[in-house]
Amino acid sequence: MAFCTMGTGSKVVHIILGLYFSLEIGCINASRFKFSNFVCDSADTNWILVHTCRLKAIRRDRTTLSFNGTVQKVVSNLRVHAQIFKRGNGFKPWLYNITFDGCRFLRKPYEAPVILVFKLFKKHSNFNFTCPFLGPVYVTGFHLIGEQIPVPLPSGEYLILIKWYTGKLLIISTGIYFSFEENFS
Ligand SMILES: *[C@@H]1O[C@H](CO)[C@@H](O)[C@H](O)[C@H]1NC(C)=O
Ligand SMILES: *[C@@H]1O[C@H](CO)[C@@H](O)[C@H](O)[C@H]1NC(C)=O
Ligand SMILES: *[C@@H]1O[C@H](CO)[C@@H](O)[C@H](O)[C@H]1NC(C)=O
Repeated sequence: MAFCTMGTGSKVVHIILGLYFSLEIGCINASRFKFSNFVCDSADTNWILVHTCRLKAIRRDRTTLSFNGTVQKVVSNLRVHAQIFKRGNGFKPWLYNITFDGCRFLRKPYEAPVILVFKLFKKHSNFNFTCPFLGPVYVTGFHLIGEQIPVPLPSGEYLILIKWYTGKLLIISTGIYFSFEENFS
C-alpha cells in the first residue's frame, strides 16, 4: 500500500485495480505545480490600464493568479509573442518560442501548444470575445494542480513571458513564473 502526498496537499491514496491480470497498488504521477510570481510590465496606458496583476496564496502549496485590465483603444490587430524559459543558471529559453495572431486565435484557436494553455485558463477568464475588442479583460483566481499539466514537464522553475502587440507597438508584457515538481512524493 503506497501513500502519496499529492499536489493538492492532501493525502491521497491511488489504487489501481486489476490492470490486465495483475493487481497493482501505487502512486501515479503525483506532481506539484505552483505559481511563484506574476508580473505585468511595460504596459502602454494609452492602450491598457492594469488594475490587478497578482498572485494570492490560498494555501501553503497553492496560489491563484489574477489579472484585470481595461483595454482603452479598439484592438483589431493583436500579435502575441510567447516564450518559455526554464531556470538553470539564470532563465534560459526552453522549447517554445511562438508568435501567433491573437485575433485569429480568438476567432478560431490554432497552434496546439497555445490551445493547451488557453484551455487551462479560459474558464477563469472573460476571453470569449473576438476582435475588434475594447473594455475589460480579466483572468480571475486561476490555479492549477500538477495533474492538470497536459504535457510531460521536467521538474524545475519556469517563466512564460508573453508580449502583446498591436502592429509593432508593445501594449503589455506579462511574465508568469511557476515551479513544477514531477513524481513528487
Ligand atoms: C476590474 O477592475 C475594475 C476597475 O477597478 C472593476 O470595476 C472590475 O469590477 C474589475 N473586474 C474584475 C473581474 O475583478
Ligand atoms: C524568439 O522569437 C523572437 C521573435 O520571433 C525572436 O526575436 C527571438 O530571437 C527568439 N528567441 C530565441 C531564443 O529563439
Ligand atoms: C463572456 O464571458 C463573460 C464572463 O464569464 C460573460 O459575462 C459574457 O456573457 C460572455 N460573453 C459571451 C459573448 O459569451
